[in-house]
Formats: sequence, C-alpha cells, structure tokens
Amino acid sequence: NHPFPVNDQGHLEIGGIDCVDLAKKYGTPLYVYDVSIIRQKAKGFVKAFQHRNIKAKVAYASKAFSSIAILQVINQEGLCLDVVSEGELYTALKAGFPVERIHFHGNNKSLRELRMAVRNNIGCIVVDNFLEIDMLHQVLTEEKKTMDVLIRVTPGVESHTHEYIQTGSEDSKFGFNIQNRQAEQAFRHGKQYDNIRIRGVHCHIGSQIFETEGFRLAVEVVFQEMAIWKERYGYVPEVVNFGGGFGIRYTEDDQPLPHKRYVDDLVEAVQKEADKLQIALPEIWIEPGRAIVGEAGITLYTIGALKEIPGIRSYIAVDGGMTDNIRPALYQAKYEGVVANKADHSPKRNVSIAGKCCESGDMLIWNLPVPEVEPGDILAVFSTGAYGYSMASNYNRLPKPAVVFVENGKDQLVVRRETYDDIVRNDLFYES
Ligand code: LLP
Repeated sequence: NHPFPVNDQGHLEIGGIDCVDLAKKYGTPLYVYDVSIIRQKAKGFVKAFQHRNIKAKVAYASKAFSSIAILQVINQEGLCLDVVSEGELYTALKAGFPVERIHFHGNNKSLRELRMAVRNNIGCIVVDNFLEIDMLHQVLTEEKKTMDVLIRVTPGVESHTHEYIQTGSEDSKFGFNIQNRQAEQAFRHGKQYDNIRIRGVHCHIGSQIFETEGFRLAVEVVFQEMAIWKERYGYVPEVVNFGGGFGIRYTEDDQPLPHKRYVDDLVEAVQKEADKLQIALPEIWIEPGRAIVGEAGITLYTIGALKEIPGIRSYIAVDGGMTDNIRPALYQAKYEGVVANKADHSPKRNVSIAGKCCESGDMLIWNLPVPEVEPGDILAVFSTGAYGYSMASNYNRLPKPAVVFVENGKDQLVVRRETYDDIVRNDLFYES
C-alpha cells in the first residue's frame, strides 16, 4: 500500500535505486527525492492550464523545499518561483534561476529584502501591508526602477485544514482584508506611486486542501472586490493569483483531487466571474509547494533502540525525528512508512516510531504496522518531500541530514550532511 516498488531482494526502491544501498552509501537520516515525480507534478500543473489554453503561471513555492538543486529542476521545468525571504531569494540567485520568473512574498519584508529584490530585477512583488508599499516606493525611487506588484488580499475564506496552516481567514496576519475595506485602501495607496505597477491581486487560502469549494469561494469574494475597483477606479486586474494549498497523500485517509481538477475548477470559477464583470480573462497564477515536492520525497532512518511496554505500546526509535520532520509534533501530521530492507514481509504488529530528541512529543508515527524489526533495519517514511528539510532544525545539536536526488537509475548527493564543524561554525568562545 505504498507508492514505491519493491525489488527482488525485498527492498524498497526509489527511482530505480535500492533504498538500503542509499542508506549505506550516504548514511541516515537521509532525504531522498525521485526527481521524475517532481517533474511529473510540475508538468501536470502547467499542462492543466495549457490544455484549456489559458494564460497562466505556475510558481513553485520554494518554502516547501529550497536548495540549489531543486531550483535547477524547477527552472528546467519552466516554472516560476515564489520566495519569501532574502535567504530563499539568495538560493534562487545562486541556482541561476531567471530573475524575471521570481515572485517575492512575505508579511514583513525588510527594506534590505526589498532592495535585494529590486536590485536583482525580480518579476513581481506581492505586497502585504502599508509599510511595505511605502518602503517599496522608496527603494524604487532610489534605484530609479519600476516594479510589478500584486496586492495580497485576505478573502475571509476558511479552508478545511489545520488551523496553523490556514492563512486566508479574516483574522490573519497576512494581507489586506477585503471585509473591512483595507484591500481597497491598499490599492489606492499603491496607485498613487507611479513606480508601482499594480498588476493584480493575490490570495492564499491555506494548505493541504482536498476540495475546490474554498478556492471557488475565494474567487467569488476576490471578484466582488474587483467589481468595486472597476466601478470606482476603472481598474481591471491583469493577474489573479490564488496561491497554493493543493493537498497530497500522506496516509490512506488523505484523498487529494487530481491536480487537473483543482486547476479546472479554479479556471472555471475565474472565467465565470470575469464574464460577470465583463472583463477579459486575467492571467491565472498559482503557487503550489507541497503538491510538487511532497510525494516525491522519502526519509530513510536507521532503527535503533526498541522499547516494549507490555500491554501498552512498542516504541521503535530511529536516528532522526522532529529535527528532520517537525510536522507530526507541530501539526499532528500523520505519515506512513515501511521497513525498507523488509518491504516484502507482511506486518506482524503495530509499533510507534520515536525520534531521538529529548522530548516526548518527538514521535514520527503512531501505530505503524511492521514485520519483526531489529536494530539496524532501515525505515522509510513516505511523503516527506515538503516542509521536512525546509523546517529542519539543529535541536539537540543534531546535524541536518543530507539530500539525495535519484533519477533514471542514478543517485546524486545534492545537499551534504551537516558536520559537527557546521554545528559549531558560528559559535565563539566567550572572553570573560
Ligand atoms: N503561497 C503562499 C502565499 C503560501 O503562504 C504558501 C504556503 C504556499 C503558496 C504554498 O502552499 P502549499 O502548496 O505548499 O500548500 N509548514 C506547513 C505548511 C505551511 C504553508 C505556508 N504557506 C506544513 O508543513 O504543513
């Protein structure tokens, strides 16, 4: 019941490579990505728009997983890129990502970040607050440039997802609320500056969404606002961006829609509203992160200590945990996994997979069916490609794992494992 094949030796394979060999070669914990899946997902979104002959842009939300290698792949697939910080922008520039295809997000961009974005002539900035509009105007004036801008609006739509990853509801730190007229004020505020080109609006209603109703509602609310801007200012958006949030499969309880379905429903909703408003269909932009990299990634761990509490629970500890995957601890996220060197064995019992951090909440999976296991076995956890490495930490001074890409039967290290020298790199002796 897992997405990757099992070879003759009964070992799990990813991208044609034996996971047990990968664990031996690179050590564990190890993030492994099947690049062909990343390409397939990226193409899927692009094709869904092309199929309908719609002007669209698909931006990969690099917060889900940013490194030079992944951005090279995203560039090869012709996608745009969403960055939310100097660090993500810096990575994109290092990767040689074409600047005109980079979009900058974030609810508290600094002057430095805006300067970096403007100096590097990135494609678009999604403005989030009044201070930012003024700072951007200041930077553009200094640099004698203009910038394409989307105004981030908050439509007050709640998506059915964990409350921490809901971003579009009215009480949100992001964007300008539509309900209290802030969005219109932001538009008027931006419009007074001739170096700011307001190309349209942006909204993002949440993450790991399994239905299209939330998007449809957001489209309606955004277009009600566009009707006001049109009537009062004669303004017609060239671009409407509905963010990311398309769900993926972590466990069998998750039933994401095919990507084409999200796109089709979104396009139809926008088309309907644009017709009502009697305007040309704006370009439709989306920003999937998780849906592009999530299912392409797995994490390999080595099993260590086993703890039986008779009649209560069996704990199996692995050599990673909340440092490489904070999602179970932070969002009660559920995962599935298999023992990679015994992938052909039938499960005998349920065990709970514990991380190695000094914290009871550091659990990766509760009640995973496994065969008999022993220390040294390799555990593969599925769908760890999004918000795993990107949210990794050095808690307990654990070095961040390496990242390996596999494609066409070849494996390649794309992020080195951190060393203890890396861990103390910025530490200084205290001269007292
Ligand atoms: N665009 C904007 C403006 C966003 O805020 C996000 C995610 C995305 C796009 C991409 O969303 P995606 O397609 O990946 O769902 N750390 C959490 C997820 C936080 C998402 C924040 N914003 C997690 O691990 O579930």
